[in-house]
Amino acid sequence: MKRIAIFASGSGSNAQRITEYFKETDGVEIALILTNNPKAGVLERAKRFGIKSHVFKRSEFVENAKVDVLLQQHKIDLIVLAGFLWLIPEFFINKYPGKIVNIHPALLPKYGGKGMYGMKVHETVIANGEKQSGISIHYVNNKYDEGQIIFQSDFDIEEGETPESLAAKIHEQEYEHFPIVIAEVLNSI
Ligand code: GRF
Repeated sequence: MKRIAIFASGSGSNAQRITEYFKETDGVEIALILTNNPKAGVLERAKRFGIKSHVFKRSEFVENAKVDVLLQQHKIDLIVLAGFLWLIPEFFINKYPGKIVNIHPALLPKYGGKGMYGMKVHETVIANGEKQSGISIHYVNNKYDEGQIIFQSDFDIEEGETPESLAAKIHEQEYEHFPIVIAEVLNSI
């Protein structure tokens, strides 16, 4: 059995999609959902799916503290960041080499980095007159959105596109591809 922990700071619709996908798959379990945000929608989703969740403070996100201990207790094989906003501490990256993946709602290396999240990404893409946007799934290193890219998909930005319409298209692409890419990464570890 391969075991996944999902980190999310917000609504968690990707977390739900991943959970639903792997419900149908033998040998993979979403064992934990972790968040820094006590108001995150992902907590309600975790409850609905009967997945253990935990809200953590910064002090619990350091070596040998709660988050580290939970990941070990649950024998986590892969950490999936799905809309998680904190930088991952270096010791986690060393402890889980090639085993932390993130999804970013733009075509990296453009439109990534600290503060580039949520609607800010889509607003900037449109303001810059980009002709395309898309999603990037990448391994996580110690810098925001700079780890090795595993997968990207793109589409054309249409005339009259708004940040909201762009966000909706991005979510569709995420739901389609993220679970499949996670399954492939799991197969390789
Ligand atoms: C997604 O667009 C993801 O790419 C970004 O944050 C958003 C999270 O959405 N990192 P949700 O919480 O999964 O609905």
